[in-house]
This record gives sequence, C-alpha cells and structure tokens, in this order.
Amino acid sequence: MKRFDNRTVIDTGGARGLGASFARGFVAEGANVVIADVLEKEGRTLADELGKQTIFFRLKRSRGWCCSSRPTKPVSRLALSLLPTAATCSAPCRS
Ligand SMILES: NC(=O)c1ccc[n+]([C@@H]2O[C@H](COP(=O)([O-])OP(=O)(O)OC[C@H]3O[C@@H](n4cnc5c(N)ncnc54)[C@H](O)[C@@H]3O)[C@@H](O)[C@H]2O)c1
Repeated sequence: MKRFDNRTVIDTGGARGLGASFARGFVAEGANVVIADVLEKEGRTLADELGKQTIFFRLKRSRGWCCSSRPTKPVSRLALSLLPTAATCSAPCRS
C-alpha cells in the first residue's frame, strides 16, 4: 500500500519544473495525476512517460488556470483528492 493509492491529484503547472517533480513523486506514491498545463508538448510527453496513472489536460493561457478555469472533464472522470500547484501566474488573477 502506497501513501497516495486511490487518490487523484490535479497538478497545475505540471508539465515541467517543480510541477513535473510533483507529478513524478505522486505517481511513485500511487496517485493518479492530471497534469494540467498550457505547455501541451511537454505535458503530453511527461504523461506518456509516467504511464497509465497519468493524463494530460491542456489549459488555455488566456483564461488563466489559477482563478477562472477548471479541468472539469478529467475531474468528472476521477475523484479529486489533492490540488498542488506549481503554475507560474504572470498575469493578474481575475475573480
Ligand atoms: N524552482 C524553484 O527553485 C522555486 C523555488 C521557490 C518557488 N518557486 C516558484 O514555484 C513556481 C514554479 O517554479 P518552476 O521553477 O517549476 O517554474 P517553471 O516555469 O519551470 O514551470 C512553471 C509551469 O507552470 C506552467 N504555467 C504557467 N502559467 C500557467 C497557467 N496559467 N496555467 C497552468 N500552467 C501554467 C508553465 O507552462 C510551466 O510548465 C514559480 O511560481 C516559482 O516562482 C520556484
């Protein structure tokens, strides 16, 4: 039994950097991980590498993940357990 078995994580900014490290760590600990990022190529490559516990969800930069959009499709398929975020939001958040 691993620490995050049967848990699902939405990893915003998960395509590279700290977020990619989060994805690797959560998968190693048994979690399902939704890599949510604006970088499609990097996100899909990482999801392919990490295997069936992982899916990629492309976010639209113009909408901004941090405040106004949610990856509803994967969330409806997987029970959300955790929401770490490594996304670097360079634009002001809209409420
Ligand atoms: N790297 C460090 O040592 C360190 C230390 C302390 C804090 N931080 C902070 O942690 C955050 C991540 O750092 P990093 O080095 O991994 O950065 P990074 O630039 O390598 O990765 C950020 C990721 O967030 C994604 N992203 C940017 N805007 C997004 C948005 N609106 N929605 C979804 N994804 C988005 C990018 O596409 C990228 O994949 C930054 O805010 C950074 O300032 C980093």
